[in-house]
Amino acid sequence: MKIGIIGLGDVGSGIARKLAAAGYEVKVNNRKQPDELALKAKELGATPATLEEVVKDVDIIFICVPAIAIPLLPKDFLKNVPPDVIIVETTNYYPFRDGGIEELEKGKVESVWVAEQLGRPVIKAFNELPAYALEHLGKAKGEDGRIAIAVSGDDEKAKQIVSRLINDTGFDAVDAGSISESWRHQPGTPAYCTELNAAELKKALAEAVKEKSSSTREFAINKIIKSNPPPSHEEIVKLHRSLFTENAQKS
Ligand SMILES: NC(=O)c1ccc[n+]([C@@H]2O[C@H](COP(=O)([O-])OP(=O)(O)OC[C@H]3O[C@@H](n4cnc5c(N)ncnc54)[C@H](OP(=O)(O)O)[C@@H]3O)[C@@H](O)[C@H]2O)c1
Repeated sequence: MKIGIIGLGDVGSGIARKLAAAGYEVKVNNRKQPDELALKAKELGATPATLEEVVKDVDIIFICVPAIAIPLLPKDFLKNVPPDVIIVETTNYYPFRDGGIEELEKGKVESVWVAEQLGRPVIKAFNELPAYALEHLGKAKGEDGRIAIAVSGDDEKAKQIVSRLINDTGFDAVDAGSISESWRHQPGTPAYCTELNAAELKKALAEAVKEKSSSTREFAINKIIKSNPPPSHEEIVKLHRSLFTENAQKS
């Protein structure tokens, strides 16, 4: 299976490295000059590609750029991509970083907005797991304490394929429903940044309250931004767990 990844920050790089190590053919793209992109691609075990090349002749395209960058992607960059190519997006909306995006401020589901911007259906996955965990906390299938990742989307076959990829990166996959339900793993929900196993994640997804998520997201990110020194990965997960009674007991 061939993979194209756009955006090589912490999450895009983590996905690229894990999938390349699992034997997938991975092409990558960011905004850097070709020589810098080539170095990064080599480090990840991937092939550097222009935006045109990264979406060509692949089975799955990962879009791993911040929400603010989604409308800035060239309008027609997916125009020659066949409809059966799966688009996975990892975006989390943070107003302090992404600016106020009016529709998201009004409560539009983030992946629904991304799909509208791209003019293509998307699968949401890998968004609620911190990049640190993606890089360091994967485990073999069946091992105790394996962390799970939520997958949302309207195409059941595509979700199954993405779930297999998740498994290959060292995590269990949990079906979180349709794309309109994908708010259940956006920032400010019990699933977000809490590193749960499959049973815990299913419960967290079911217990999410949409109306509370943006205020909870803001509370958490303000604490993180104001922390001096910056919080460790463990402290960030502990903070997110502490926002929800059930998960607080795990911290
Ligand atoms: N970091 C995490 O732990 C994590 C985990 C899950 C989900 N997410 C979400 O995933 C998204 C990406 O997160 P991140 O932390 O990886 O972001 P990041 O570190 O800021 O990296 C963003 C990447 O996107 C690239 N980019 C931006 N605009 C682009 C464009 N127009 N065309 C091509 N590439 C472009 C940047 O390119 P350059 O390198 O060339 O600047 C950079 O490689 C965010 O919405 C974030 O909330 C993050």
